[in-house]
Amino acid sequence: METMLIAHVLQRDAIGRTVRLRGWIRTRRDSKGGFSFLEINDGSCMANVQVVVDGKLPNYETDVKQLTAGCSVTIEGEVRESAGQGQATEVHATRLVVHGWADPENYPLQKKRHSFEKLREWAHLRPRTNTFGAIARVRNCVSRAIHDFFQSDGFLYINTPIITASDCEGAGAMFRVTTLDLQNVPKSNGKIDYSLDFFDRPTFLTVSGQLEGEVFACALGKIYTFGPTFRAENSNTARHLAEFWMVEPEMAFFELTDNMELAERFLKYVFGRVLADCREDMQFFNERIDNTVIATLEGIVGSQFVRLPYTEAIEILEASGQTFEFPISWGTDLQSEHERYLTEQKFRCPVILYDYPATIKPFYMYVNDDGRTVRAMDVLVPKVGEIIGGSQREHRLDVLTRRMAEQGLKADDYWWYLDLRRYGTVPHAGFGLGLERTVQFITGMTNIRDVIPFPRTPGSAEF
Ligand code: 4AD
Ligand code: MG
Repeated sequence: METMLIAHVLQRDAIGRTVRLRGWIRTRRDSKGGFSFLEINDGSCMANVQVVVDGKLPNYETDVKQLTAGCSVTIEGEVRESAGQGQATEVHATRLVVHGWADPENYPLQKKRHSFEKLREWAHLRPRTNTFGAIARVRNCVSRAIHDFFQSDGFLYINTPIITASDCEGAGAMFRVTTLDLQNVPKSNGKIDYSLDFFDRPTFLTVSGQLEGEVFACALGKIYTFGPTFRAENSNTARHLAEFWMVEPEMAFFELTDNMELAERFLKYVFGRVLADCREDMQFFNERIDNTVIATLEGIVGSQFVRLPYTEAIEILEASGQTFEFPISWGTDLQSEHERYLTEQKFRCPVILYDYPATIKPFYMYVNDDGRTVRAMDVLVPKVGEIIGGSQREHRLDVLTRRMAEQGLKADDYWWYLDLRRYGTVPHAGFGLGLERTVQFITGMTNIRDVIPFPRTPGSAEF
């Protein structure tokens, strides 16, 4: 007998087959005629399969009639054409085995709908709900599309380290990694003695794989890294996580416009794949979460992103007549309200902002001839704001060392990064796409904590 996923059992071509399926009960309904209807879900798709269980089954009274939401079962039976509305097939059970009961007095996921806030307290159970099942499948599709895009475009997948001694973004928002005894920290001359720590120096969880990515791009051409990154900034917003996943391509011989072109093509590919491969899940998000998500993605796939220099964006914002909570002027960073004005009201599409003031961007960005802006680019989308941050890199040794000194970074700490500029330096560029912001944008979910399996935020790391 064939074990079949419910996604397949629901297809017409399964009719007539004798199958085994496994999953969790969503509902049970007993008919007066002495049989029961079960709705079973196994996570392979959004839809449940309907199983008809005859009262003649030997364990009908003892098992079948006791089934409630959350119980796990294996069912064997025949797939038949369904007489019911909205489903092509149903399964007529010849055998049913219960693996685990779920006491309805205590099992939290009863039929009633729970708020996303409540479900965060049950992060270990929420994948069993329609919304979180759909998010998991979309997230998987996005990750797969990311790999497919780069793999078919000549990029090498590189794994960059999680533990690092350097602060790529220079923001100082890093988690420390240490084996020192916090109750009894060794000191010499009043300072912590890191020579006694595991790595013989202060170390942290990485905020970005970029610097190591540059090492490989400057040897092998086009690479990408895709992994977890960590930021200890204490921002309790719907768009920030302390642990998130970032994909970072890095390309030798790319300048800023090449970088923009790649980012736009890449995003369109990923969105197109989700539309094609996750239709059922996207329809769910469109119906239940945000009724614009499908049209928005379709619109983006077929349109051009706006490319706007930072200086012009500031002029637009100043002339907008809007009252912003945070005042904006040349030299300040955009807040989410400004990003949203540009993408939702002014242009109604993704916007690539570029050529930012040097003072608000990290040390590694290429300095323009005007001396005051750098070749940075952020891709902004409606509702979520920034989903990509990137730049052309400063490949001129003298300019880079000057920038590092300006930002108080010690050249000695970055000797290997500077060596890339000493030996065979080339123009190069790259960017980072936040996986969770991307899934948030695609699904319309308003809080980033709901698009990662186990969110890490200030004060919260239970699961
Ligand atoms: O703009 P960021 O900080 O850029 C970098 O880290 C560069 N080193 C990338 C590169 O050029 N290789 O972060 C890139 C993206 C952001 O646009 C956002 O999508 C996401 O990472 N991101 C976060 N996502 C969730 N929670 C946070 N705290 C995030 N911080 C950044
Ligand atoms: Mg950024």
